[in-house]
Amino acid sequence: MSINQYIKPITAERKDGELYIGGISAVELAKKYGTPLYVIDEATLRGIAREYKEAFKDYKNVRMMYASKALCTSAVTKILDEEGFGFDTISAGEIYTVYKAGVKMEKVLFNGNNKTPREIELALRLGVGRYSVDNFYEAELLNKIAEEKGVKADILIRITPGIECHTHDYIQTGQIDSKFGFDLTQTDEIITLIKNEYKNLVIRGIHAHIGSQIFELQSYTDEVEILIKEIMRINEVHSLSLDEINIGGGLGVKYTDGDNPPDVHALADAVAKTMKKYTSNLPTIDLEPGRSIISTSGITLYTAGSSKVVPNGRKYVAVDGGMADNPRPSMYQAKYFAEIADNTDGRETEKITLAGRYCESGDILIEEIELPQIKADDTICVYNTGAYNYSMASNYNRVEKPSMVLVNNSQSDIIVSRESLEDLISKDSIPSRLNK
Ligand code: LLP
Repeated sequence: MSINQYIKPITAERKDGELYIGGISAVELAKKYGTPLYVIDEATLRGIAREYKEAFKDYKNVRMMYASKALCTSAVTKILDEEGFGFDTISAGEIYTVYKAGVKMEKVLFNGNNKTPREIELALRLGVGRYSVDNFYEAELLNKIAEEKGVKADILIRITPGIECHTHDYIQTGQIDSKFGFDLTQTDEIITLIKNEYKNLVIRGIHAHIGSQIFELQSYTDEVEILIKEIMRINEVHSLSLDEINIGGGLGVKYTDGDNPPDVHALADAVAKTMKKYTSNLPTIDLEPGRSIISTSGITLYTAGSSKVVPNGRKYVAVDGGMADNPRPSMYQAKYFAEIADNTDGRETEKITLAGRYCESGDILIEEIELPQIKADDTICVYNTGAYNYSMASNYNRVEKPSMVLVNNSQSDIIVSRESLEDLISKDSIPSRLNK
């Protein structure tokens, strides 16, 4: 089993009935740092990073690039840099974060369907290693800015292989009707254009990303088959020797018992086997896992507050966070698993709905879960919140974003501090004409 197949961080355990993560009591963490609190378990994070490396170690050339969009903070970047990962970035903010964390910029890929001139300029200035070129407009723009700066940009052509993943509609990016990439009827045109006119672009290979929270290895097998055939065809038709294939990210994780993501080794086997079926001259493979790297290492701790029972019998228990720190249940009907961190020995269980504190009826973290009876002030732990929680968090209702702590070997350190009320108003200004 690989770590993406666990609901909880690998260090999660109960001591005298109380939940411990990274050797520290979750209740103590909640007391010390306040709630809501994001907690990242370093052992789980390093563990899955190593599993990925191990799984692909027999394949000739693999570059692991963590998809920073899942969770981009300086400490997480530092850890994955230490583990030998590169970074898939999507904005000036992510590029700047990895740069400031000391990452060698040739290990960084810049992705996205509408990179702005300012972002391209920054990426070229800092020496980002690869650009995934998404569309005709962008190829022209990147070439123009590179030319002005007198530099060359190494690029991958992003294509949409047309694979349907059985995942939530909003997070499919690989279908033909997609805002991302060139479809296969356009690759010859863009390559001819680049070869003949865009002299500051150097094509290295092709790129695709077929979706997120993928459970079926067949989707990857199909993708790799399309990509390897396409790169071989391009090389022949255009007399090129492209040898880089980026297969994107997407491997699923286990949020609840109903989820069955594949093992990382099974993914590696499927990818390698498909490549070898078509060629012995194996291209470099890039992977961009985001969720499967960071999700399982993250939990969110909340404090339970009010509760109410409605006439149909449903019981709501509200916590001190919700859709602003984890928008996934309200955006994607995403399911999560939670537990009470405190010792609950002797309590009866009951079915409840775990609600958030935000002013919106849809702010429900878990629709229905059976838990020991929750008391006000209990610490509630929601599992598998490492990916796309903090990175998609908002200040809805003008609530401060929570802090994040890293735990390891009974030690805890703040890696993102909690916003203060002053932080919230620090970007505001009142025009002087209103001050009369
Ligand atoms: N590479 C590309 C080009 C991507 O667009 C993405 C994710 C990844 C890699 C990483 O995919 P992962 O391994 O994390 O599945 N906010 C949504 C997920 C959006 C994913 C967007 N692209 C969610 O919370 O489920």
